[in-house]
Amino acid sequence: MQKLRIRGGKRLVGTVRASGAKNAALPIIASALLTDEEVVLSNVPDLADVRTMGRLLEGMGVRFERIDGESVRICADNVTGTEAPYELVKTMRASVLVLGPLVSRFGKARVSLPGGCSIGARPVDQHIKALKAMGACVEIDHGYMDATASRLKGARIVTDMVTVTGTENIMMAAALADGVTVIENAAREPEVVDLAECLNAMGARVHGAGTPQIVIEGVEKLHGCRHSVIADRIETGTFLCAAMVTRGDVTVTHAAPETLEAVISKLREAGAVIDIDGTSIRVRMQSRPTAVDVRTVPHPGFPTDMQAQLMALDAVSQGSGRIVETIFENRFMHVPELQRMGADIHVDGHTAVVRGVEQLEGANVMATDLRASACLVIAALAAQGETVIDRIYHLDRGYEHIEEKLSKLGADIERIA
Ligand code: UD1
Repeated sequence: MQKLRIRGGKRLVGTVRASGAKNAALPIIASALLTDEEVVLSNVPDLADVRTMGRLLEGMGVRFERIDGESVRICADNVTGTEAPYELVKTMRASVLVLGPLVSRFGKARVSLPGGCSIGARPVDQHIKALKAMGACVEIDHGYMDATASRLKGARIVTDMVTVTGTENIMMAAALADGVTVIENAAREPEVVDLAECLNAMGARVHGAGTPQIVIEGVEKLHGCRHSVIADRIETGTFLCAAMVTRGDVTVTHAAPETLEAVISKLREAGAVIDIDGTSIRVRMQSRPTAVDVRTVPHPGFPTDMQAQLMALDAVSQGSGRIVETIFENRFMHVPELQRMGADIHVDGHTAVVRGVEQLEGANVMATDLRASACLVIAALAAQGETVIDRIYHLDRGYEHIEEKLSKLGADIERIA
């Protein structure tokens, strides 16, 4: 199993390019199931999760090919199956994103239930409830969701909580439905907006994405399109935190600063000097950061996907910070690993109190999920001595060429077997 070895204490300086957003690329790739014409996507990161989504579509007879380092071509003109098997869904929960498009275009789908996940239960009841409201029959059979419908009908859907992939699945299902669908309490994440833009480029009529109410007028047919995926705000935020803990000076280019307002404002509160120039974000940190309090909430608030990275920052800051995780019930698995590196953290339910220490120490640690891995990379960059992070396949799910990008900034980091 591959590991990362990081020798901490090197100041990060220079320029790094943000990749396309994993969480936008995945639903957008799934949306290509809605048309028999070609969809060409650029700024698609080359990541394990993107390859998994490609394999999932290929298993249904879809042609999925990488044109170059950053683009993919997808054509669903000869779909031979409508099943998302357990073997793929268990490795990537976002596989559930094929449910909406499959039922909408083909009137049937058999998608494995994602099951448990290390950061919490993460049910898909809202996805199912919405499809039923649109007239589908959904049955649970041996761990699979079996959905059938003639043509879905537009409906008014009020979700019980803000769900990102839930909102995306409903949008895709509604795109080819008969009539108007209204989603109330919709997720406002930038990735939802990016999906809406791609759907509209395919001829869909989606209005209000980015607000809590999304209205979709169903159309008979969608056509092919070209679309460029939005920048990854979480990867960008991770680089900003990494720069801060090393008191560095880093510019992230090709970023989407408008999607990172809550994060940038927190990092400024922690003492960073952040300058935005178009799509570039420059962060400078001259002194030790000040610990900040944070509460994760749906967009436009502070994202749960940046919670672990912010905890690494607090862990080496002056003072103490209170971190409250409100989205997932089990998202503090990075805490014991940070403690192995000398961090002073106390967890009580959904709250972690982090007292910053002067210096973390390198140690052997284990990545437990995607963002937890990013947190450990940040901590290792700040630590004295050597850290070896095991199970970095988690990191590879969501960070493109991470060790190359960080070494170009001056980090001492290498992948070892
Ligand atoms: C997406 C992101 C993930 C991010 C999360 C929250 C993708 C591919 N993944 O995940 O990186 O951490 O948003 O910003 O975009 N819930 C239910 N029932 C449902 C759906 C959700 O109870 O049917 C609950 C979940 O358990 C969780 C909360 O709602 O507590 C939010 O989950 P959701 O927004 O759906 O997360 P994902 O879309 O899976």
